[in-house]
Amino acid sequence: MSNKARDIFILGLRNAHAMEIQARELMERQSERMDEYPEVKAKLQTHLQETNEQLRRLEHCLSACGESNSSLKDTAQSAMANLTAMGHAMSGDEILKNTFANNAFENFEIAAYKSLLALCGAAGVEEARAPLEQSLREEERMAEWIESNVEKVTLEFVQHEQRQAA
Ligand SMILES: [Fe+2]
Repeated sequence: MSNKARDIFILGLRNAHAMEIQARELMERQSERMDEYPEVKAKLQTHLQETNEQLRRLEHCLSACGESNSSLKDTAQSAMANLTAMGHAMSGDEILKNTFANNAFENFEIAAYKSLLALCGAAGVEEARAPLEQSLREEERMAEWIESNVEKVTLEFVQHEQRQAA
């Protein structure tokens, strides 16, 4: 019983690591092209730093479970994130597509951390709880920020398009 939970927890850590790699890639590509939206860009860059910390926390949890980081297969996820960002870059409403995608992504991350936290007890890894909770709080803050800025970003996009047309 306890072993199964531990296996699922470790798999969950690996998946979360791949997820954060994907998030990092996505935000890096996006923030390269966000000069017209300085507030969003600044927020992305802050969250990028948090994401790097989250990756370190996950790596730490993995090695505490006796798992090596070298076997992490994150390449496919990075490629996927780059493709997503590129697809959005080719559309006229890139900022909106990025906003919707980031909103979805942050909520995905929140669910993943909640799932990992639910496993800590059964997996016998109570020491992982605090760092995972910290990452969860960062994701919740980011999700909240994106959600409360959808309207504002949309109207900024309209203004920007109007300026360009003038
Ligand atoms: Fe995030």
